[in-house]
Amino acid sequence: MIKKSRKERRKEKKAKQYCEQLEYHSDSSNSSENSNDSSNKLGKNWTKIENKNKTEPNTNLKNILKLIYLQKKLLLNSQFYAKLNVEVIPKLKDFGVMEIVAYGIGMISESRTSQLQFAFLLLLMEELGLDQAYAFDPVSNEHDKEVYSHYGMSYIDKNENGCRVATEKTLFYMPHCEGFLYESVLVANKTEDISNKCFDGWKKLAIVGNNFSEFLDKQSVHKISKLYPNLDVAKDIAQSSSFPDEEMYGKEWSVSHHPFNDTSLIMF
Ligand SMILES: C[S@@+](CC[C@H](N)C(=O)[O-])C[C@H]1O[C@@H](n2cnc3c(N)ncnc32)[C@H](O)[C@@H]1O
Repeated sequence: MIKKSRKERRKEKKAKQYCEQLEYHSDSSNSSENSNDSSNKLGKNWTKIENKNKTEPNTNLKNILKLIYLQKKLLLNSQFYAKLNVEVIPKLKDFGVMEIVAYGIGMISESRTSQLQFAFLLLLMEELGLDQAYAFDPVSNEHDKEVYSHYGMSYIDKNENGCRVATEKTLFYMPHCEGFLYESVLVANKTEDISNKCFDGWKKLAIVGNNFSEFLDKQSVHKISKLYPNLDVAKDIAQSSSFPDEEMYGKEWSVSHHPFNDTSLIMF
């Protein structure tokens, strides 16, 4: 076994402490419904979930699946998806995604936005030829979990607060997640080895989420260095491919729902 240098061990310890700190916050909230409170201690939401997004709580799996089917059809027939299929999805195919982890989709049984984001995840899986994904959102209820399981996805049984180490090329599907969650993914995958100014671990990551630069532009400089030091580094070396403008290419839904505004594919 190769012995790790002191610097390497120090870095690993720091990453571990960061993740433990997040664990402490989520434990102390002691309820999945309070997850936003705990995350707000560490970072502000990117986008607020708007109430108009909410549908009547759906308790019937058949009804939820029907809604997802309709959103999938809507997406497939949209110029938005056609454009994505030319400009963004081929980059993911070239990257060679082996695993998908979906964080923060929200309540699929209640939110139109979450249904559209979930429908898009299904399309992505088809495009990438993957029939398995892992998912977690602390607000998921039993009906949301039923949906994941219906599509053969594994619901992660522990709030890992984004601290998952990618062992192979992994797509982190994180539409509109909070800043701390992107920071966690970067911290967990920060390795000692660097080439072309980028940590080797980050090269295993593809993230569908909010554009890092745009997010950081909205924060105070003091906050960036304290809460998002890795996002700050990543924004300068990441290659971001913006999703098409919803209002122009996704007219069918963008009047009332914005599932993919400010969204980009981020790779290193
Ligand atoms: C701003 S909301 C976005 C929800 C949805 N994707 C949308 O666009 O409306 C952020 C989501 O991240 C989820 N979240 C918070 N902490 C999380 C964690 N530790 N792991 C996964 N998801 C988390 C929240 O519950 C919430 O659903």
